[in-house]
Amino acid sequence: MAKIKQLNVALLGLGTVGKGLVSLLKENEAEILNKHGAKVNIVKIFERNADKLEKFGLDRNLFTDSMEDICGDKNVDIVVELLGRIHPSKEYIESALRAGKNVVTANKDLICMHGGELLKTAKQNGAVLLYEASCLGAVPVINTLKNNFLGDEIKSIKGIFNGTTNYILTKMTQEGLSYEECLKEAQALGYAESDPTNDVEGIDAAYKLCILSRFAFGLDAKFEDISKKGITQITPQDIQIAARLGYTIKLLAIAKCGDGKLEMRVNPVFVSNNHQLSKINGAFNACTIEGNYSDEITLIGRGAGSHPTASAVANDIMNFAHKMGDVGQRSLKKAKMEKDGHMKYYLRMSVTDRAGILSGIAKIFGDNKISIESVIQDKNDNPDIKSLIIVTHMTTSGSMAKALEKISRAPSVQSVDSVIEVMG
Ligand code: HSE
Repeated sequence: MAKIKQLNVALLGLGTVGKGLVSLLKENEAEILNKHGAKVNIVKIFERNADKLEKFGLDRNLFTDSMEDICGDKNVDIVVELLGRIHPSKEYIESALRAGKNVVTANKDLICMHGGELLKTAKQNGAVLLYEASCLGAVPVINTLKNNFLGDEIKSIKGIFNGTTNYILTKMTQEGLSYEECLKEAQALGYAESDPTNDVEGIDAAYKLCILSRFAFGLDAKFEDISKKGITQITPQDIQIAARLGYTIKLLAIAKCGDGKLEMRVNPVFVSNNHQLSKINGAFNACTIEGNYSDEITLIGRGAGSHPTASAVANDIMNFAHKMGDVGQRSLKKAKMEKDGHMKYYLRMSVTDRAGILSGIAKIFGDNKISIESVIQDKNDNPDIKSLIIVTHMTTSGSMAKALEKISRAPSVQSVDSVIEVMG
């Protein structure tokens, strides 16, 4: 009989995901042995105090609060970092890699901002760094990008990379509630944090977009190059108009690459009701990958939470049962950034109801080479004011910025109330 492979793990952090991982490894022990001929042993748990281990029914002797202890232990093969945040996780991972330990992490902020240098440290020390769980929880999007499309060229990735905002937008769409009401509910349910900034302003989704763009395009995508707009300005009125026009508003992370130029953004989008992404509801995540030959492939699943994230972490750990190197650990080319985003727009503005107003606005669009696809005039609470809704054809963010600058100064325009991308 073949010898059972022993994978000895030091776990950093016994929080929500850490506990999920401990449960998974226990519950799936026989399955893992059967599939991989391996046994995963948690040999150390790095925590602030040992009581946490005991409360979770774990042996107090596994406790350590010293990275030196972990790095100096020849018995430890893999360090699993589930502490989150950039510091001190970065320093802990660096010390583990320098000690030649393989590392698995779910830390998106860290991988987005410092992934390149950590991968270099790993390579220099003959170690491997894996981080499937950093993007979209249980959805195997990193592995899909790494191991598939090998003969194809990826043109774009786009998706719902944040469950909290998708929960809020779904609730606003289905129940007609305001952003503020839905945020409160998301906080009560534990989806949104008391300071929800990272989720609602698109920052969390941008971290994930940055990591995935590197795999999709082989380019050194930078977080700073991603334009970010969140969902705080979305109103029930925009959601209703979107529905009338056959769209659903979603917060999408989008990266496109054409002619070696990269375009990346996170913003709300009118998604056609015919597209899969319009149907992803609640806290679910999804990523649509578009290959030159494959066309669109969409992965959907749970993007956060104890068990889904633990599943992705366990997947990375099992790589080491087969001594697989990290094929995705390639050198990245410098990204040439596209200055402008290319998209269609939905605009809602409040205008005075007088002759010549519409033609004046249409002229500003024309002067900026923006073609109008459709116009709707809607009533407003004030009888002298009308809501003017315009959907444009494909244009650039630069042209739109110039047009908006003129439009917002036109005397007939009371306010520009909404500017949202339309998926075209
Ligand atoms: N807060 C994130 C979300 C999960 O709501 O999807 C962690 O990235």
